[in-house]
Amino acid sequence: MQFLFAAVILLILTLSSTQKAVRKCPKECNCDDTKLTVDCVGKNLTEIPLTAEEITLKLDLRNNNLQLLPRGAFTHTPYLTHLNLQRCNIIKVKEGAFRTLGRVVSLNLANNKIETLYQESFDGLSSLKELHLDRNRIEEIQPGAFMQLGFLNVLTLTHNHLVYIPNMAFQGLQNLKWLRLSHNSLNNLAQEAFAGLFSLHRLSLDHNELQFFPTQTMTRLPEVMHLDLSDNPMVYLGEESVSMAKLTHLYLHHMALQDLSDQAFSHARLLSHIDLSHNQLSHLEPLSGPKHLTVLNLTGNPVFCNCYMRPLKEWATTGGVKLLGTCAGPPHLSDELLQEVTFLDLRCRSRGEALEEEEEQQEEEQNKRNSTATAKPRPPVKCPPNCECDTETRHATCENRGLTKVPRGFPATTQLLDLRGNLFHFIPSSSFPGSSRVVSLHLEFCEIHDLEGGVFQGMKNLLYLYLSDNKLTSLNPKVFAEVPKLTYLHLEGNQLSNFPGSALSLLPNLFVLHLERNAISRLEPTGLLSSAAPNLRELYLSNNTITFIAKGALSSAFIATLRLDSNQLTEVPTQALLKAPNLEELNLSANLIPWVGPKAFQPISQSLKRLIMDQMGMEKMSKDTLLGLGPGLKAFTLKGNQLKNLPDLSSLTGLEVVDLRDNPLLCDCALLPLRRWMENVKLGVTATCAHPLELRGQQVRDVDVFTTCPENIAPQHGKAVSRLTPTNLKKSKHGALKSPRVKIRPRKPKLKKPSKNPHERKPKKTKNQKKLNIKT
Ligand SMILES: *[C@@H]1O[C@H](CO)[C@@H](O)[C@H](O)[C@H]1NC(C)=O
Ligand SMILES: *[C@@H]1O[C@H](CO)[C@@H](O)[C@H](O)[C@H]1NC(C)=O
Ligand SMILES: *[C@@H]1O[C@H](CO)[C@@H](O)[C@H](O)[C@H]1NC(C)=O
Ligand SMILES: *[C@@H]1O[C@H](CO)[C@@H](O)[C@H](O)[C@H]1NC(C)=O
Ligand SMILES: *[C@@H]1O[C@H](CO)[C@@H](O)[C@H](O)[C@H]1NC(C)=O
Repeated sequence: MQFLFAAVILLILTLSSTQKAVRKCPKECNCDDTKLTVDCVGKNLTEIPLTAEEITLKLDLRNNNLQLLPRGAFTHTPYLTHLNLQRCNIIKVKEGAFRTLGRVVSLNLANNKIETLYQESFDGLSSLKELHLDRNRIEEIQPGAFMQLGFLNVLTLTHNHLVYIPNMAFQGLQNLKWLRLSHNSLNNLAQEAFAGLFSLHRLSLDHNELQFFPTQTMTRLPEVMHLDLSDNPMVYLGEESVSMAKLTHLYLHHMALQDLSDQAFSHARLLSHIDLSHNQLSHLEPLSGPKHLTVLNLTGNPVFCNCYMRPLKEWATTGGVKLLGTCAGPPHLSDELLQEVTFLDLRCRSRGEALEEEEEQQEEEQNKRNSTATAKPRPPVKCPPNCECDTETRHATCENRGLTKVPRGFPATTQLLDLRGNLFHFIPSSSFPGSSRVVSLHLEFCEIHDLEGGVFQGMKNLLYLYLSDNKLTSLNPKVFAEVPKLTYLHLEGNQLSNFPGSALSLLPNLFVLHLERNAISRLEPTGLLSSAAPNLRELYLSNNTITFIAKGALSSAFIATLRLDSNQLTEVPTQALLKAPNLEELNLSANLIPWVGPKAFQPISQSLKRLIMDQMGMEKMSKDTLLGLGPGLKAFTLKGNQLKNLPDLSSLTGLEVVDLRDNPLLCDCALLPLRRWMENVKLGVTATCAHPLELRGQQVRDVDVFTTCPENIAPQHGKAVSRLTPTNLKKSKHGALKSPRVKIRPRKPKLKKPSKNPHERKPKKTKNQKKLNIKT
């Protein structure tokens, strides 16, 4: 009896839920009424669909074209908990846009075009736990932008355009645990930039432009345990730089550290893990402060294992600190693991070597004494007139002083020398004596038209050289003599007419080379990359006048990024790339390449991840153009060309970004593979018909011409496209709908597979469907 009663209740419940199932669902979207989700991914929606059921919990609007989020944009779905607005082309979020969304816990606004976060942009999101704003164009955070997000745990702002964080930028985020600011252009943090982040445990500031450790700012973050500052151009860490009581993990890898004070971490006593890998440290003293250090990572530093390393080794051994990395010298110890080298191995072999080391040591001590003698008046710092020298940060600057000669007499410890904006015109050889510690030299905007050979002689630690925006027409082959460590070279905005191959051949460690905005017209076989700059990883040649690239000119085992955009190439330089097995990004935009032939990218097809070919006047691509490219390709853009058709993209299964806009596509059966592909990918591909005339302006995804295309002759990979014929037309009638692989449908939700949810509402028939008499 009880059982029967229960069964009746169950039946009633089932019935009522069946009735309730007649729900509203925006016509472009897929709704799941049991999970209460609405999915409108990739529909080029320009407005938030207003007809979503009020009780919707998850709304997925990825890949649309919303542009602006107005005030109160979501008033009709007050119960939302998850809102995804990635890749929606959003430029502006109006104040109060989310005002009614008091239950949302996760909001994703990544991959949009937002520039400013206004004061009340996020008001109303009082339950929000995660906010993603990565890959926008954010330059400005207005005070109070996050004021109402008292429950936020994670805030991500990576890959934006932030240069400066003002005071109180994150006020209100008292529960924030993790703040990610990686991959911006931050060069300055106000002292109170992070004030109010009382719970922050983790802060990511890697890949920015910070030139020194932001001690004062960091001191205001009492709870931070993990701090990542890697990939910032810091050259030195001074005494008490890191003053953070709870810090356990500190990441300082891939910077330009030449040296650090043994007292740098004296106020970070809980540090257990310090990653200093890939810096320029040749010697290290025992670190005072941390009592529980377990790992000190020195991988990729030129550590010289002689007697001066004994104290460090002893300290590490007795303190149980694991030293990671290898010795770079002397020769008999090179590549030995630091952990395995014994105390007795660490010897000063020759007297000369010992003396040299000793001198450096003494100088160092002397400096330390000078700079710590704060009680007494400091002796005047040696510095050329009209310049400023800071011995603590080791920076010297004479920026925009109208100087016509390179000044002399900088402190020997200078690591960053900034001379930009002067009037040097010509710089003779050996112009930087006593600058052996300089790591970063700025000479941009100095009207330089000539540099004599050997001009940087003696700068044996130079890593970054900025010669951009000068008047150089050629480079003396000896110009880079004796700067063996140079890694990043900026020559953009000059008037170079040739690729400076012979000058570069003196730079075995060159990694990134900027040559944009020069007058290079040909890449000749004589300047082969493989011999001139064998370890180059990124080459920027945009905005030159390149018409010709010799076979193999760009062959290089290491090159990964190649910018050839805004040149005058008339064909894809396939032959030039024959041996570039690690090329990941190729930008050919804004050349004039009307036709791209078969296998154009085959030599690089295994490694290529991003292929950019916008605005090239391209009229035709061979159906085999993309042969060899596969799931590895992540981004492919063809915006603003003259293409009427496209090759089959179905082998590109890994695409995350694709842009086919502004091409005059001819919408007939030859375009069927594209249409099928578009229906299969969740990417929000915009492709517009220009022909035939009656379809002009319509979206490829919407037009119904394809429903009459013969399914069976649809080209598989590589097979030719044939046009409609009366015989195969017959076959197509049902064939098109039965295809196991993909269904051709005029609009997305209409011809859905039998839905997992039996209660799903049937959409209204559209004009197109009526005409075709398609049954659902
Ligand atoms: C040490 O640094 C190297 C190079 O950056 C890295 O691969 C390795 O994982 C690091 N080891 C530890 C234990 O942090
Ligand atoms: C440090 O002080 C000593 C003597 O007080 C002086 O000879 C030396 O030049 C100073 N070094 C620097 C780098 O200021
Ligand atoms: C190339 O030149 C054009 C026109 O001068 C300019 O608008 C564009 O920003 C330049 N691009 C680069 C990468 O320098
Ligand atoms: C490719 O080149 C074009 C034209 O110079 C430029 O606008 C675009 O930002 C570049 N894209 C990438 C990903 O490098
Ligand atoms: C997307 O919407 C914009 C604005 O309404 C329109 O100009 C464009 O043609 C549309 N593209 C597609 C693929 O629907």
